Amino acid sequence: MIKKSDVIYNNKTFKLEGSGIQEKKTRAKDLAGYFSDSAAYQALDPETVMYRVEYQDNNLTEGTPGGLYFGITHLYPGVVGKEYYLTKGHFHAKRETGEYYFGLQGRGLLMMTQNSETRLEEVVSGSVHYIPGNTAHRLINTGTEVLSVSACWQTESGHDYASPEEMFPQRVICDAKGERVITSNE
Ligand SMILES: [Fe+2]
Repeated sequence: MIKKSDVIYNNKTFKLEGSGIQEKKTRAKDLAGYFSDSAAYQALDPETVMYRVEYQDNNLTEGTPGGLYFGITHLYPGVVGKEYYLTKGHFHAKRETGEYYFGLQGRGLLMMTQNSETRLEEVVSGSVHYIPGNTAHRLINTGTEVLSVSACWQTESGHDYASPEEMFPQRVICDAKGERVITSNE
């Protein structure tokens, strides 16, 4: 017997469809301390949705070894002051575990910090990104449309939201010409 998959990726809407799809919204009020321009941050409507993560609830328990999760992050375009919208980013609680990201739509950057060294990879439709273990990772939307990126990570990985200063000593801002400029946190 052949059955259809429980979940389908819709390549027109860039969303997951099917059974067990969960969604977690992150709003402006959840990102206190993440943007350099605190006045611009305070001016945001706290309920503004900055990004959504949809994932398949496959009944596995986070923290148990052996399994995998699959999800898609949709990060909206915009700036807080001059700083592009970003995800919180995290280490994995089980630090040595890696993860794959795969770009679906939009244009942005993947920021990764390993051993206090930060690097950036260009995220576009079709780009594949291996995030090694012991590496903090976040997405930054530097484009004008939603940045959608799928991810596959281990059930045992978990999330460790260390302080943003520790995870990401660099920032990406939009200069007066609309160009991306990398600055340091200080
Ligand atoms: Fe991760």
